[in-house]
Amino acid sequence: MQVPILHDFPLASLNTFRLPARARHYLRVSGAAELDAVRRDPALSRLPRLVLGGGSNMLFTRDFDGIVLHMAGLGKEVLGEEDGRILVRAQAGENWHAFVQWTLAQGLGGLENLSLIPGTVGAAPIQNVGAYGTETKDVFHSLTAYDMASGEVRTLDAQACRFAYRDSIFKHPEGRELVVLDVTFALPADWTPNLRYAELARAVEEAGIASPTPADVGRTVEAIRRRKLPDPAEIGNAGSFFKNPVVSRAQCERLLAQYPALVHHAQPDGSEKLAAGWLIDQCGWKGRALGAAGVYPKQALVLVNLGQATGADVVRLARAIQADVAAKYGVALEPEPVFI
Ligand code: EPU
Repeated sequence: MQVPILHDFPLASLNTFRLPARARHYLRVSGAAELDAVRRDPALSRLPRLVLGGGSNMLFTRDFDGIVLHMAGLGKEVLGEEDGRILVRAQAGENWHAFVQWTLAQGLGGLENLSLIPGTVGAAPIQNVGAYGTETKDVFHSLTAYDMASGEVRTLDAQACRFAYRDSIFKHPEGRELVVLDVTFALPADWTPNLRYAELARAVEEAGIASPTPADVGRTVEAIRRRKLPDPAEIGNAGSFFKNPVVSRAQCERLLAQYPALVHHAQPDGSEKLAAGWLIDQCGWKGRALGAAGVYPKQALVLVNLGQATGADVVRLARAIQADVAAKYGVALEPEPVFI
């Protein structure tokens, strides 16, 4: 198969931060056939590769001197019922929110807490996207991935994906050769709302909805997100810029003694997850800017492109925030987006 490679391809419209960068080579991929062609081509197979979905979790600090594989495969279907769960499958290039809406329009619950997350279906398992008390792993059945090393198409279940907080095998060397082609989700046939996230439970109650449907919960999540998070179509951003740091119980107690208002959540393993947004906010960064990169005024965990920012501007701002949080609280903040 001959694949239509494009050269010196602009990436600004393919990353939600809208950072200027170019790819030396670019290929729009609709399925395994193109990946197979790249693997079999002696010149193309040697190039550094970057798999791109919706570009909603990427920070381009430079041009990419390799081949961008832009996952654009489309299609979604209900596969049927298995053990009290409805299986639905979507191709990697499907827009995530449109897919969630499609399940909700059919009365299928399970993905509603993940409404309005930017990006594609294929990207969801990579960092185990999560919001409002649901993570991808909670509704995940399996995925198929093309192995760029062997040329095989492999099926991976949840265990094989090694999901963790904003993490999976695909972010580690063992998963680097795997390119996600499609994802199958297992949605509960007998749905009950997941209102464990206090802010969501409160919002549903305030809306006066006594027994919410999946679509009601989805609409409520959308309203919360619209209130707090910038729309990437209007202001360039990549969602939460830092992960919420996990510290030991002892460190959390030491911090609480000095800062009683510290926002923290006990984890099943006894550690404590701190709210990075709170830490950044307390360091006075909310709404501040360094050059053309800024901290979103309504949510300190989100860094934004104020217009003409470069990746270097965003990195400079991120480093300054990390330094202040480390100096005040002794906590290291780890960025969530992938730096290119
Ligand atoms: N907070 C502040 N100031 C701020 C921001 C937050 O004090 O500027 C406090 C809030 O008042 C709250 C706490 O920090 O007590 C947590 O804030 P929030 O509920 O907004 O959630 P988050 O921890 O900041 C996480 C995810 C989001 C996800 C929300 C809702 C991470 C890194 N972020 O944010 O995910 O939407 O919870 O579940 O885990 C993303 O990953 O891109 C993302 C948006």
